[in-house]
Formats: sequence, structure tokens, C-alpha cells
Amino acid sequence: MFDIISFGSAVVDVFAGTDIPEKKKCIAYPVGSKILIKDLKFDIGGGGTNTAVAFSRLGLKTGFIGKIGDDKQGQEILNLLKKEKIKFLGKIESRANSGYSIILDSREKNRTILTYKGINNEFRFSELNLRKIKTRWLYLSSLLGESFKTQKKLAGILHKKGVKIAYNPSEYIIRKYRKKKLSEILKLCDVLILNKDEAKLLVLEKDLLKGLRNLGAKIVVITDKNKLISCFDGEKKYYLKPHKIKVVERTGAGDAFASGFVAGQVAEKNIMESLKLGLSESESVIKYFGAKNKLLRLKLR
Ligand SMILES: Nc1ncnc2c1ncn2[C@@H]1O[C@H](COP(=O)(O)OP(=O)(O)OP(=O)(O)O)[C@@H](O)[C@H]1O
Ligand SMILES: [Mg+2]
Repeated sequence: MFDIISFGSAVVDVFAGTDIPEKKKCIAYPVGSKILIKDLKFDIGGGGTNTAVAFSRLGLKTGFIGKIGDDKQGQEILNLLKKEKIKFLGKIESRANSGYSIILDSREKNRTILTYKGINNEFRFSELNLRKIKTRWLYLSSLLGESFKTQKKLAGILHKKGVKIAYNPSEYIIRKYRKKKLSEILKLCDVLILNKDEAKLLVLEKDLLKGLRNLGAKIVVITDKNKLISCFDGEKKYYLKPHKIKVVERTGAGDAFASGFVAGQVAEKNIMESLKLGLSESESVIKYFGAKNKLLRLKLR
């Protein structure tokens, strides 16, 4: 029996840092030029693997569901999962490409991401091995298309069996599916985590927490970069202020916060303790380079 299974994307991230300065909010590469990369780093990313690693390092028995190709990148993703003691419950598709992102960092330390989804969004429900999916919690991060449909169907089946559901959809998911196509999944959520812009896209009410909760989630959390984090469980509202920290590289901040909060809930900590765990995770990731650096190592259970 798993404590939690994370269903989301897996990609290989390549960070290419150049000395190209930003102009008018753009990183512009002159046509026909050859530009030297000053700093090149490789990492495994994607919401699915980022959060699975966070859960596992917090001492939870963790599984991962996602789709990868039978390429070199897919093998690297499997190696990471193994190293982090995460059970792969997904599907390896032959003759398919895994996800791949190229992160172009500017001199000012901002970035443009070119992302190739590969096989990530093509997880069919029939490809799940339901017998192996025995868990207390299911954590869903952003996936589109066939994979989104499979997440929805799996969440419905597991919810009926008493499995708890957490969801952290990104802005592009909300823009694409809107309230209408998301409502089915939102109703099943024990925990829904969004940033403020995402929350505003989903509800019109001035009281965002209340508006979100009316969509059916039991506990809703709204993050707002370095501003106040807020949470509502239907009875009480909770607030937590992020500390002033030096941002080194913010990729993975949202995943780190959400997985920390949910891990707290899985370990039956109270809401304030869970919010603090989310905050510590996100701050620990922002202070270092890369989406998993440095996710905390703790024994919650
Ligand atoms: N500049 C910052 N300073 C301190 N903490 C931050 C900062 N940015 C983010 N955080 C921490 O990370 C948490 C999540 O950040 P944010 O609200 O930006 O989520 P997000 O937009 O979903 O991120 P992502 O783009 O990674 O999905 C915040 O609640 C906070 O704890
Ligand atoms: Mg996010």
C-alpha cells in the first residue's frame, strides 16, 4: 500500500545559461549567430517527478504514474525514480519520445522555457495497471489531453474507494479546460492548491478561498509568490507569510510548496503545520538551482 501516488509529467530539463542580456522583456538571439553557453546543467523535471521526489524524501511510500518513451531520456527518468526510491507505475511507450525542456537563462537570471511534451499527455486509461494502484492518497499535477481524461477517471474510481485526492493544476490547464471541464475533478478534491492568478481565473467571487471551496474541494490553498499564503477548510481561514529570501532559481517553487503541504496532510499533521512544511520546501528549492534542489529529507512517518 502506497502512502501517495503522484500522477504527472516527467521531463529532462536542460538549463542553458548565456550572457545574452534581456531587451524589452525578451531574450533575443541574433539570427545567424553562434552563441556560447556559459553554464550547462541537466536535471529531471516535470510536476510528476518533482512532487514524487519530495514525497519520498519526506519518508512517504511513493509511487509515480506518468508516460515516458523508450529513449535515453526515459532511462534517465527511470534511474532518478529508482535512486529516490519511487516505484514506477506508469507506461514506457516504445518508439516514442520522452518530454524535454530547454531552459534559456538570461544574464539577468530570468528564463524562457521551450518545452516538448513528448508522450506525457498520451496516457490512456487502459494502460493503467489498476491492481498495482493501492494507495491512501493520489496527487495530480498538470497534464493535458488523454492523460487529463485518465487522471479524471482514475480520481473518480479511487475517490469512491476512500482514497484522498490532491490537485495542483497550472494556469494553462485552467485556461484550456475552464470551470466546466474541471468541475468533475474539483468536486473530488480533498486538497486543491492554486496560485492567486489561477484562482482568479476559476472564480469570480471576491472571496477567492470561499469561491474555490464552493467548487467542491475540502481544503483550498492559495499561494501568491512572496506574499501571504492563505488556506480555508470550510471552518477557519489560515494565513502564513513567506520569509524574505534570496531567489536563486525559482523553477519548482509551486511543486515544492504543494507537495510539502500535501505530505503534511498525508502524515496527519494539522493545517498550520502542513502550510509550514510547504513553505519550508518551497524556500529550500528557491534558494538553490533546479526544481528538486534541495527538497527536504525528513521522516514524517
Ligand atoms: N520570491 C519569493 N520569495 C519567497 N518565497 C517565494 C517566492 N516565490 C515563491 N515563493 C514560495 O513558493 C510558494 C509558491 O510560489 P508561487 O505562488 O509563485 O507558486 P506557483 O506560481 O504555482 O509556482 P510555479 O510557477 O512553480 O508553479 C509561495 O507560497 C512561497 O512560499
Ligand atoms: Mg504552480
